[in-house]
Amino acid sequence: MRAQVGIIGAGPAGLFLAHLLHAAGIRVVVLEQRSRDYVEGRVRAGVLEQTTVRLMHRLGLGARVSQEGLLHAGTTLCVDGDPFHVDFAELTDGGAVTVYGQSEVMKDLNLAADQRGIRILYDAAEVSPRALETDQPIITWKQDGVSRRLDCDFVVGCDGYHGVSRGCIPASVLETVERIYPFGWLGILSEVPPCNHELIYANHEHGFALASMRSPTRSRCYLQCSLSDSVEQWSDERFWDEFSLRLGTAFTPRITRGPSFEKSIAPLRSFVCKTMRWGRLFLAGDAAHIVPPTGAKGLNLAAADVAVLGDAFAAWYGAGDASGLEDYPRRALDRVWKAERFSWWLTQLTHRFPHMDTFDRHMQVAELSYLRQSRAAQAAFAENYVGLPLDF
Ligand code: FAD
Ligand code: DHB
Repeated sequence: MRAQVGIIGAGPAGLFLAHLLHAAGIRVVVLEQRSRDYVEGRVRAGVLEQTTVRLMHRLGLGARVSQEGLLHAGTTLCVDGDPFHVDFAELTDGGAVTVYGQSEVMKDLNLAADQRGIRILYDAAEVSPRALETDQPIITWKQDGVSRRLDCDFVVGCDGYHGVSRGCIPASVLETVERIYPFGWLGILSEVPPCNHELIYANHEHGFALASMRSPTRSRCYLQCSLSDSVEQWSDERFWDEFSLRLGTAFTPRITRGPSFEKSIAPLRSFVCKTMRWGRLFLAGDAAHIVPPTGAKGLNLAAADVAVLGDAFAAWYGAGDASGLEDYPRRALDRVWKAERFSWWLTQLTHRFPHMDTFDRHMQVAELSYLRQSRAAQAAFAENYVGLPLDF
């Protein structure tokens, strides 16, 4: 098989890139180890920045997100049960985010790929990129037990944090930076109306809580939990009790309890692979960087990476201009570090750290009090939350 660009991974990064390249007349093949149902069913991100929604419109994928996405022009922060509101629209000249589940984004990307004839090969086993330091890289894999091979000009690793691509970069050139957080997020989905029309980020002595949603009838709720916790230790009743406590009395009467139909624990990590290009291999999305989920930047960063990379490939194939490809790591990393900073900052501000002393807690409460009272502080928060423009 032959393609100009071989993409590993059919998550948001891989499929947004496939559409961008297809629109520029570049032949792509996407190889994904999981099934299509698995990728579309994975419960993950829920908040889209304006640049991500704009990218969907630019690619002709915006019909459903316009109709079904929930526009949020603000959010609530809550400190030991005492809430305050941040008005994104007023602080950022009309800025807002859109609540629209990652699984819906994946369905839109897949359906349009079917219609446009973009080749996505699911259930590809033992995917292995090779000869990346040459001008003729290849990807080998097994489909239904049969060995296959793709010859291409470039390989893009969009295969997430646990993928194979990053590991192909020799240790002597690979530069990574990481921070692990000493807690996790326990998340549930429940078919009950959200307790507020916008998201609530709560800092409580017991730890962080987040009230989010997927639709007017479906709640997505998170609690900071211990990394040693298992979902079996968290009955729905225990979850709702703790969630109500952390949100406080202003919201407790508005919480509708219901059975969860998804419950999982995710660790929190900040990670950047500074080597986003090696030879003919490029990395994009979670393959190159992870943010803690606080602030909802992961999917949006994946989309921003491939928007830059897509333009770079279009310039290379259209005009033989290599400058965009050469500049990709610098341009992408500039944005990545800003999102890393924001996600780290919001995590620090809202979570309970195991070794926090009285001074640390006072610093947290003072910073939240400053955010409550200062328009300048709120404007900085809002500007980052709705998403920095692509070339900030
Ligand atoms: P992935 O989505 O991980 O896709 C990588 C793909 O590569 C997968 O389909 C995988 O199966 C495939 N793959 C892996 N290895 C191989 C291989 N060897 N061969 C072939 N294929 C392979 N982000 C936000 O922006 N907003 C949010 O609100 C938000 N909330 C989140 C909540 C939770 C609980 C979690 C866990 C994440 C959240 N994120 C959020 C982060 C977001 O989901 C990720 O950043 C996003 O999925 C990254 O997209 P990606 O395409 O880079 O990687
Ligand atoms: C969601 C996840 C986040 O990390 C966040 O900051 C906001 C919302 C969500 O899954 O809905």
